[in-house]
Amino acid sequence: MKKNNEPIYVTKPSLAPLEEYVELLKGVWENGILTHNGPLVQRLERELCQKMGLNNFVAVSNGTIALQMAIKALELQGEIITTPFTWIATVSAIKWEGCTPVFCDIDPGTLNIDPTKIEDHITDKTVAIMPVHVFGNPCDVEAIDAIARKYNLKIIYDAAHAIGSTYKGKSLLEYGNVSATSLHATKLLNTAEGGGCVTSNVELDKKLQRLRFFGHNEDKDIVEDGFNGKMTEVHAALGLANLKYHDDVLNDRKKKYRMYHESLSEISNLQFQKISDGECNYSYFPVIFPSEELLNKVEKALNDKNIFPRRYFYPSVNTYSKVVKYESMPISEVISKRILCLPLYFNLTSNAQELIIKTIMNRIAVK
Ligand SMILES: Cc1ncc(COP(=O)(O)O)c(C=O)c1O
Repeated sequence: MKKNNEPIYVTKPSLAPLEEYVELLKGVWENGILTHNGPLVQRLERELCQKMGLNNFVAVSNGTIALQMAIKALELQGEIITTPFTWIATVSAIKWEGCTPVFCDIDPGTLNIDPTKIEDHITDKTVAIMPVHVFGNPCDVEAIDAIARKYNLKIIYDAAHAIGSTYKGKSLLEYGNVSATSLHATKLLNTAEGGGCVTSNVELDKKLQRLRFFGHNEDKDIVEDGFNGKMTEVHAALGLANLKYHDDVLNDRKKKYRMYHESLSEISNLQFQKISDGECNYSYFPVIFPSEELLNKVEKALNDKNIFPRRYFYPSVNTYSKVVKYESMPISEVISKRILCLPLYFNLTSNAQELIIKTIMNRIAVK
């Protein structure tokens, strides 16, 4: 079988021209400031706020730390209701902060936590809800907000996928008591490793800034237990270089998403995530197969052509029985077994995309 020369992976980081990154690094070499909330971190925070219409952005070293800082800042202790259809980091952040994850199943269309099931999981120990905007598709933030108000719970959005997503014209990061995002290499906007917390509460914002810096306040006094969540200047420089191209990356993703969707919709037994068109950032293209068997066959056909999609999220996190107490989550478990994310990134060529589509169509046509 003829293979492509270059393997095609599920994603490839979006990177600004190297010269533009190097130009920013020259300043770092000149001033000798590598970390400690330096000028580039502050500039990245400012420019991100301008671009996304945010009041603040506390840049940190990764998205997992951002989630932990959100839990710490809200001083939560008890049960946190979350989704099993996520990356393990959502759950490990809850556990590292000494809280207990309680799973609530997902909506089979949007793949986000099903708000109609959340109340079933509320006990007298529940302190918060931590939904995930899965693949950048907005959760039902209004329904979740109503539940949180009714039971006096906090909301932390795991917005790891949600940079560039909006809801009712506002950045999706503006919702919840805190939103925690990721700027990991695989995300729409990346600093290689990185993340950030967003909150509209000024006091909470200050607390988040203290927590990421060992508990120091503005007068350099240690006023509480913090840790090291700082982003470095080298990472911030990459974020600033990449931020200039953020709109191009977003628009390109949307075009490629539509191309997959239009072509693969011709296959009647495939399902797609029900997204809020125009609000989702189109950062992933997941396909839900009618069976795991068919998924395996399609994946093998793609691998034979040097194309490597990814089973994501798989398995359903509630089934990691070494780290969580198993409770049946039928929708998440079934979807996890049948979902495959196709390659989707800025430098994916239209030839490569056509080859992926053709390979899937051909494999499905074979009985
Ligand atoms: C849903 C979700 N939450 C949290 C994270 C953690 O982000 P990070 O890798 O920046 O720590 C990820 C990472 O991909 C994720 O997909």
